[in-house]
Amino acid sequence: MNRRQAAVRRLLKTLPPRVKGFLPEIEGMRLYELAREAGRLGPCLEIGSYCGKSTIYLGLGCRQAGTVLYSIDHHRGSEEHQPGQEYHDPDLFDPQTGLMDSFREFRKTLSLADIEDTVVPIVAPSAVAARFWATPLSLVFIDGGHSLEAAMTDYTCWATHVAAGGYLAIHDIFPDPARGGQAPYTIYKLAVASGLFEELPMVETLGVLRRVCGRAAGGGSGT
Ligand SMILES: C[S@@+](CC[C@H](N)C(=O)[O-])C[C@H]1O[C@@H](n2cnc3c(N)ncnc32)[C@H](O)[C@@H]1O
Repeated sequence: MNRRQAAVRRLLKTLPPRVKGFLPEIEGMRLYELAREAGRLGPCLEIGSYCGKSTIYLGLGCRQAGTVLYSIDHHRGSEEHQPGQEYHDPDLFDPQTGLMDSFREFRKTLSLADIEDTVVPIVAPSAVAARFWATPLSLVFIDGGHSLEAAMTDYTCWATHVAAGGYLAIHDIFPDPARGGQAPYTIYKLAVASGLFEELPMVETLGVLRRVCGRAAGGGSGT
């Protein structure tokens, strides 16, 4: 392992636990490996950056592959992050606007992870970012809003952009309804039923699908 790789390993171990977010290390490491591999085919994209925990793993993988990560979030929080809700964090509430704002924390994370040259933040609702999108993607990670409407929007807007051989990863898959909300699992099942994706082993609640047919991506420089 050379010095640069050792520095990446150190960052992957030490930084995510210091960043607010909702991703266990084992799922994050799978995202890192996927981005590092898929990134050689073209750019990656995530929906739901929050404070950048998943972005660290995906961004470092993309940097190693010589590609970029588009990271979409309106930074206003999902339903469960709003005041009075289960995952509300008062540190991320902006009293001046009366709105949630995770963008400042997100930028701090990009700087700490040294991935500002790799991550392209898109501060917008996912459906708006998708309106004129035309670039094939080697990996799409969906971890945005968890209502059925939000998850369906993310799926319909972005799954078609995954290139042949690329990956669609979906967070918070709970086949057992007693363990969690069903919206991510619903879109996971739709993707499988479409016949366009094959299932790979899940890592905890991270569902991973590979696109088996469709157009190819391009553009990774593969350093
Ligand atoms: C579960 S959090 C993401 C967690 C993050 N991936 C991590 O590793 O910690 C969901 C994020 O999706 C964002 N979000 C929800 N609905 C969205 C939408 N329609 N467009 C863009 N971002 C959205 C929220 O602002 C929130 O930051």
